[in-house]
Amino acid sequence: MEFKEAAGTRRSIRFFRPWQPVEREKIQKIFEAANRSSRSMNADYAKAIVVRRSELPAETIDALRNPTTTASLDLAPVYIFWYLDMDYPNGGADRLKELVENHVLTPSHGWSKAYVDEFLWPQVLKPIADNQMATMFMGTIEVGQAIANALLAAVDEGLGTCLHAFTAADKVKDMFHVPDSWIPIWLQLLGYPAEEAAAGGQRPRRPLSANFFEGSADKPFEEDAEVTESLKRDKLIQDPGPFPHREMEVKMISRMFGLPE
Ligand SMILES: Cc1cc2nc3c(=O)[nH]c(=O)nc-3n(C[C@H](O)[C@H](O)[C@H](O)COP(=O)(O)O)c2cc1C
Repeated sequence: MEFKEAAGTRRSIRFFRPWQPVEREKIQKIFEAANRSSRSMNADYAKAIVVRRSELPAETIDALRNPTTTASLDLAPVYIFWYLDMDYPNGGADRLKELVENHVLTPSHGWSKAYVDEFLWPQVLKPIADNQMATMFMGTIEVGQAIANALLAAVDEGLGTCLHAFTAADKVKDMFHVPDSWIPIWLQLLGYPAEEAAAGGQRPRRPLSANFFEGSADKPFEEDAEVTESLKRDKLIQDPGPFPHREMEVKMISRMFGLPE
């Protein structure tokens, strides 16, 4: 799938085929996409544990339930538990210097090992590392970057996926041997969709002009109609929901799974 189509096709999927397992190779591809996310300091912020629902004790699944997550928990064959490792700053200076050695961070742009050792680490990065709020603020953005890649990779593999609240993390901490430095971020549910991949159409979004600006915050970014048309052809922009048959689709799938209609 081309990038634009993957980005345009991605939407939160909440009905999964519980009977269809996800191939392990697809999990590897999703993790590889996450591992390629851009990240400051080239650090390892995101940690994830993949578990098959069939391997989880019923009481663990019950602990993760909330009123709007419960149906997806029962349907999704794969759970990916996403964490932020608050220890990510450790070794940050070494990783930056590795990038200097690899000619990624270059003198042309002000980089040197001395700059890292004498200024960037002691004056900028260590103060962040010493401040838990700053470490968390910076880290959650970085985990988000990794998760965004993981969501798109799942769509690219023909899977459905959705993020959910990761509650009751204390219930899985011992079972998964989670280190104390990892803090729970989101639970990604994954599987083959039981609904159409279009899931009733693209979600309503405000136009670009509502959120993007050119030159000044009071100058909305104006779309070029020809570009918009080309994005429709490339499937970044798809038919908006709800499709006329969406209500019936949801009703019938809900009935099949014995869920409230
Ligand atoms: C960080 C994050 C957390 C979310 N948590 C939940 C959740 O707990 N339960 C849920 O049903 N959907 C959750 N969603 C999905 C959103 O509700 C979803 O973005 C929305 O339905 C429409 O956007 P989409 O279909 O394009 O993803 C979450 C999405 C994100 C990005």
